[in-house]
Order: sequence, then structure tokens, then C-alpha cells
Amino acid sequence: TINQSCSMIIFGGTGDLTHRKLIPALYHLMYQGMLPEGFTVISVGRQQKSNTDYREELYQSVLKYSRFQVQKVLWDRLSERIYYRAFSFDEEDGYEKLKADLLQIDQMYNTAGNRLYYLAVSPENFAPIVEKIKEHNLIPENEGWQRVVIEKPFGQDLPSAQRLNKRIGKVFSEKDTYRIDHYLGKEMIQNIMVIRFANTIFEPLWNYQYIDHIQITAAETEGVGSRGGYYEKAGALRDMVQNHLLQLLAIAAMEPPEKNDAESIRDEKVRILRAIHFPKASAIGRHVALGQYSGYRQEEKVSPQSTTETYVALKLFLDCDRWRGVPFYIRTGKKLEQKTSQIVVQFKQPPKPFYKECEEGCNPNLLVIKIQPEEGTVLQFNAKKPGNLQQILPVGMNFCQNCNLENNSPEAYEKLLLDVMSGDASRFTRWDEVEYSWRFIDEISNCCSNKAELIENYSAGSWGPQQGQQLIERSGRKWWNL
Ligand code: BG6
Repeated sequence: TINQSCSMIIFGGTGDLTHRKLIPALYHLMYQGMLPEGFTVISVGRQQKSNTDYREELYQSVLKYSRFQVQKVLWDRLSERIYYRAFSFDEEDGYEKLKADLLQIDQMYNTAGNRLYYLAVSPENFAPIVEKIKEHNLIPENEGWQRVVIEKPFGQDLPSAQRLNKRIGKVFSEKDTYRIDHYLGKEMIQNIMVIRFANTIFEPLWNYQYIDHIQITAAETEGVGSRGGYYEKAGALRDMVQNHLLQLLAIAAMEPPEKNDAESIRDEKVRILRAIHFPKASAIGRHVALGQYSGYRQEEKVSPQSTTETYVALKLFLDCDRWRGVPFYIRTGKKLEQKTSQIVVQFKQPPKPFYKECEEGCNPNLLVIKIQPEEGTVLQFNAKKPGNLQQILPVGMNFCQNCNLENNSPEAYEKLLLDVMSGDASRFTRWDEVEYSWRFIDEISNCCSNKAELIENYSAGSWGPQQGQQLIERSGRKWWNL
């Protein structure tokens, strides 16, 4: 349990994120006895409604999205601490009332000025809300802590991210700014560091001498659904690669941080993001593959001539000693054959084939880190097939952490909310990480500005466009769909 009580102010209180993720996560923390004693929520939204109606709506969402059976008594204990306030984000009076409410909460629940501002709103509202928070003195001086959580996307490119950062930085210091990337709260992503740094068997091999390549996949079976309006401007590169996938790459590739703290970890991640080598314009076709699923142009709020990519695959190199010459393949897409997020580390072949069966290459050693839906790791190696003939078979040591239903893994948002309350920013992106990811993404998108010619159609339910396959097959490798 965290000792310090606080109030959490959610802007976007009637939105999808609040219903599907934030409130269920708070209920889960309550269920596990992990919420601080005087924890209180004020949800702000535009629609007029009473506390009672609001709480009832949230209850329905918790019933729907909770990973535990919902105990009404427990829910009531949480929900009586959730207040709803209706005002639009530019309404001065609303902020004044909010201030009065917060002062009252400080008194009633001993929250001591500790405030967690959560911006679950569309990005154009991030900076204006933060500015209003300051104008109306919602950050008490010399009292408690005040932190702001900013949802994605943090900008649409480097210049817009810089502008946003500057405006936020006038109100909250970097240390109090929590840019959320929900992938960092996922169990198996937290686990990558443990697998690497709490064992001796992997890290000595974790470099160009033993690793042939690393591939990172985040494949979804769903299309864009009702988010066509947002997605048209983003595309897979901005929606998934700029944040989630580059973060995965950074954690998988970074040097061991000096200490297990937010600054050391993020220093190392930034070094990787800075080391991404950008291909020459003439080689771009061998490094980038873009696709769009058939039927995307007919989706709601999508232009019938859209050139937005719903699939992207990249082949990257890192300019650093550890990874000299090792390709990193990244791919993500919507409407693909299977929902799966995973990292596959493929090791090099033995120096010279000892067995005749391996003359054309043995089955490679693989370490697979399965992020979702299955969570676990598989280590593939070669063994003798039982019998009198000499035959070699790939076998797997399999650790599945969520196959047993009792191991009900926490949702990313639970851990991340606890982190903000306890002031641990390790699993949040620091400004320089955002900056270097955008630098890279902008370079790629500038290079691919003739998207209409580059983009290839793929059928829904397939593994994406041909060029995505060729990107990896050209060098005699393949995507593992394990
Ligand atoms: C979000 C993207 O950040 O991540 C979505 O905006 C995507 O387009 C989602 O579907 C994937 O998250 P998860 O947790 O389902 O892998």
C-alpha cells in the first residue's frame, strides 16, 4: 500500500479510457488493498449528470471489464470516493469549483495537497487544460506533490511534440510529467529486464557475437473500428512504432542500467533510440514496408483515397558496439491473421556444422518473449529425436505465466497508476525518449512521403503485404509466427 493519500482528477471522466481501463484498474487496486487510505477521485466531463448516475455507469463498466469477480461492498467503498463534476475544459468557473472541491477533499481525507491530474482527453486539450490548472492555482505551493499523466499521442511529429512539451513544462517539471505508454506496464514487458538482468544465462550472449537478429511483432486482428478519424492522421508508424515498439526495442537492446531507477533506465533507453541508424534514401525500400488492409478505405471517417498505412515493417540497425551488424526487424499491423505481441531473439548458427543434418543450418536457437495474449517465454534448442536413426529436432522449454487461470495478470494501468502515486517514473517516457523517437519517425515519414506509390494492399486476415515478407526474407530470414 502507498501511504500517501491523494486525489486523482480525471479529465475525460465519461470517456472510453476511464470506463474501460482507469476505473477497473482502480477497482483492482482496491480489491488487492493497494490503494492509499484517503484516495479520492474527481472526474470531470462535459455531460451533466449526478454523482449517483455517474457511479452507476462506472459500476456497469467495472462489471464488464474487471478481471476479478466484483464485490458490491468493495465497489461501494471505492465509488463513494468518486465524484463527478460537469464542466467544459475552457470554463473558468469549473476550475474554481474544482479548486474548492480539492481543498475540501484535502481536509476530509487528509490528502495534503497531493494531486494526480490524469488527462484522458483528446490531445488538443492537453496543453489548454494544463494551463488552466496553473491559472486557477490548482497546484498548491509548498504542499504535497502534484503530478500530471499525459495520454498518447504526445505530438504528431517532432515540432508538435516540442511545442506541447514546452507548454506543459511551464506548469509541471519534467519530474512531475508522466507520459504514459501503456505497453510499459504490461507484465511481460516489465519482465524483459528481469529476464536479462536477473539471470546469468542470457546476458553474456546478448550481443552481435551470438545473436543473428531480433524481431519484434505487435499484430492485431482488429481493424480501426470507430477510431478512423484519429487513425487517418496517425497510421501504424505513429500509432504503434513511435511509442510502443521503439520502447520495446530500447528495453531489449539497452545496456544494463547503472541502477534500477527511473533516470538510469531511461538514460540507457535514450542511448538506443539515438543509435538507430537511418537507412540511406536509396535503400529505403529494403528497410521499410507499408501496407493497408483491403476494406480500410470503407471504414467510418476514413477517406476513400486514404494512403494511411495500417501495417508497417522496418529493418533497423543500431550504431553501437553491442549490436554492430545485427538487424532488428519490427512489424505491426491491424487486421492480421493472429493477435500476438512478441519478441523473438534468434541466435547464430554453431560455427561449423558438426552434424550432417545441420549442413544446411540447424533449426536456430530462439528465445521468444511472449507479451500477449499468451504471456511467457519459450527457449528453442536442438535435441536428438529418440530412436536408432540420427535425427535432430527443435524442442522448446516453455514457461507460460498466464496459462494457469489462477495467475490473473494485472492490467498495465494498475501498475502504472501505482507508479504515479508512488513517484516512480521508470515505466514512463522521459522527454528525450519522445524526442529521439519522433526524430526517427519523422525521418522515415519524410522519406516515404510518396506513400501512395509505396503502400501495398493486403487482405484482412493475412500476415500483411508481400513487401513485409520480402523485407525479412531477402536476407534468408523469416518472420516467426509462434
Ligand atoms: C494503442 C493504439 O496505443 O495500442 C491502438 O492506439 C492499439 O491502435 C493499441 O490497438 C494496442 O494495445 P494493446 O494493449 O491491445 O496491445
